[in-house]
Amino acid sequence: MEALVVEGGVRLSGEVEISGAKNAVLPIMAASLLTDKECVIHNVPDLRDVRTMVKLLEILGVEVSWNDKTLRIKAGRIKEPLAPYDLVKTMRASVLVLGPLLAREGYAKVSLPGGCAIGERPIDLHIKGLKALSASVDIEEGYVIAKADRMKGATFAFDKVTVTGTENIVMASVMAEGETVLENVAQEPEVWDLITVLKKMGALIEKVEPNSLRIMGVKSLSGFEHKVMPDRIEAATFLITGAMCSEKITIKGAKKEHLVAVLSKLYECGIKITSQENALIVDGADEILPADVETNPYPGFPTDVQAQYMAMMSIAKGTSVITENIFEKRFTHAAELRRMGANIIVDANKAIVRGVKELKGAPVMASDLRASASLVIAALAAKGKSKISRIYHLDRGYENFDGKLKSLGAKIWRIKE
Ligand code: EPZ
Repeated sequence: MEALVVEGGVRLSGEVEISGAKNAVLPIMAASLLTDKECVIHNVPDLRDVRTMVKLLEILGVEVSWNDKTLRIKAGRIKEPLAPYDLVKTMRASVLVLGPLLAREGYAKVSLPGGCAIGERPIDLHIKGLKALSASVDIEEGYVIAKADRMKGATFAFDKVTVTGTENIVMASVMAEGETVLENVAQEPEVWDLITVLKKMGALIEKVEPNSLRIMGVKSLSGFEHKVMPDRIEAATFLITGAMCSEKITIKGAKKEHLVAVLSKLYECGIKITSQENALIVDGADEILPADVETNPYPGFPTDVQAQYMAMMSIAKGTSVITENIFEKRFTHAAELRRMGANIIVDANKAIVRGVKELKGAPVMASDLRASASLVIAALAAKGKSKISRIYHLDRGYENFDGKLKSLGAKIWRIKE
């Protein structure tokens, strides 16, 4: 396993380029299963999770070629519509092949993903949605087995907002017979990037305000060519990094319209951010003001930025309360930040953070993707040396994060342990 060693206290400066969004490219790759024509995806980030999705597609019998940042995918023939447990357990997003496989083949066998560090992560709403489209769905030996000669359009309301649940059911419905209306759908920009792709393929999808979709089933879909949107969570991660430990950082490719809740919260903390054509510039803050935050579905404050925000509140001038409304166990980074001297009390889904003057470097352990980023940021701001172990979590969702930080002047090394 690899670890990152960080010598904190360096003021970073320079510019970074935001990579393609992990949570957009994964569903878009799954959408290629809906057609036997070639699909071309540009701006693909080189992530562990993308490599896992490539492996899954190849197991399904799909031809995949990946050159530089372009993926060419052709699902000419599905060898076997089976997503095996030993692959799905390494990446929950594998569940995104369920809807497209069922729509394409009329049959899909996908392992239940199992829980992870941030929560139990059920997929009951995915299953309810497929059943609403007249699929038969059973759970056998840890696998979801879905069957449907041709799904039938229906009206279905999600009990809770679910990002991949919305994506799965939209992909299941685009070739169903007749009209589907989905209510209480997720509004994340990544969902819209997928819908843009599906419409390029010939799907008939329209938004019905405020949070519904109307889909008219078509007989078949064509291929597509698409450039993946920039990763707003990576951009938010660099904004917080810049606020905590930089002179000034230019974040190229960041779209401010995807970051409204994050930007308004950072303004509340006294962080100076200016926007340029296709870039955001963040100034290092001498003083960070505390501000409470609650995570919510888009356009609310993203749960995927909560851990990074907690690192920033650890050195704010006062106390803040962080409420995590999406996942039941997404505070594992708090104990690791405490090892660096942070003063954080966790009570159910609330964390009370009393800002300290400065953090001290320490050996810490990453537990999930965004917690890893939070620990790296804290280590950069801390006095002294830190070692962050199990950084394979980081590599799942950040392309060359340590390399980008090094280009900003960070003293950061990757070691084998
Ligand atoms: C997506 O996960 C993202 N992953 C997550 O990003 C992100 O944190 C999450 O959405 C919330 O924004 C991808 O897009 C690949 P949900 P997803 O279904 O779809 C409950 C990262 O760091 N729920 O929107 O799995 C669920 O337990 C990752 O990049 C059900 O109860 O999340 C949670 O409490 C982490 N039943 C809430 O809904 C279901 O059937 C939201 O989960 C589905 C979800």
